[in-house]
Amino acid sequence: MKKALLLACLISLLTACSLPGKVQITEIPASDPTVIPTETAVEIPTEIPTEIPTETPTSVPPTETPEPHSAVLVVYFSRTGEQSSVGVIDKGNTEIVAEMIAEKTGADFFQILPEVDNYPMTYVALTEIAKREQDERARPAYAGEVKDLAGYETVFIGAPVWWNDWPMIMYTFFEQNAEALAGKTLIPFNTHDGSGLSGFDTKLAGTLPQSNVSAGFAVLGREAQNSTEFIRLTVNNWLEGIGF
Ligand SMILES: Cc1cc2nc3c(=O)[nH]c(=O)nc-3n(C[C@H](O)[C@H](O)[C@H](O)COP(=O)(O)O)c2cc1C
Repeated sequence: MKKALLLACLISLLTACSLPGKVQITEIPASDPTVIPTETAVEIPTEIPTEIPTETPTSVPPTETPEPHSAVLVVYFSRTGEQSSVGVIDKGNTEIVAEMIAEKTGADFFQILPEVDNYPMTYVALTEIAKREQDERARPAYAGEVKDLAGYETVFIGAPVWWNDWPMIMYTFFEQNAEALAGKTLIPFNTHDGSGLSGFDTKLAGTLPQSNVSAGFAVLGREAQNSTEFIRLTVNNWLEGIGF
């Protein structure tokens, strides 16, 4: 009886306890494609560059800066010595007006001077030389050149009336600089002894068809010489009227 009781107890013990060494396996279901992973994979570079580049990125080449200058230029020709209606003068009539224009507009200057100055200082002799030049359609050379003429937007161009026209030396300037003056605004002016503008504007436009020639301005030479302050007012009014 004792033996039977011991056997029964041993059997019950064996069924109630797991056997040692036996692992319970829980099956992991295959990954569900409908499940979106919340963490996205970040690729981390495995190699970190240790060298710092020595070459700096190529910079934009510097643009050439033009020399600063006024955008307005006054080019003029003028004579001293004996002149009609004013006697002997030591500042030309046209030069007086040219200076007024430059003063009001802040323009640069270029005076046309003959390369070889054979012009007489007496009035009648000067008129004879000038007539010959006109008849021969001479192109007397002038000295120097305007620095960077093409850089100016507006050019006032003045001279005395000689035989109802520009002095021939002015045509030398126009023709030699036709290319640089193309597209520029040219504003003619003159001094005279009664003939007025004498077609300075139309003659300039005919010689430089590529330029924009504005209406011209004429001043009596003797008034520029002797009524300077009155002429200054007149010139300033004209300049203000054309936007200066
Ligand atoms: C050669 C010569 C020709 C001239 N022809 C004329 C002319 O046709 N009409 C006129 O009104 N004045 C004429 N004049 C006068 C000048 O235009 C005037 O005196 C002018 O103001 C002189 O300017 P300037 O001192 O800047 O040279 C002539 C003067 C000279 C020397």
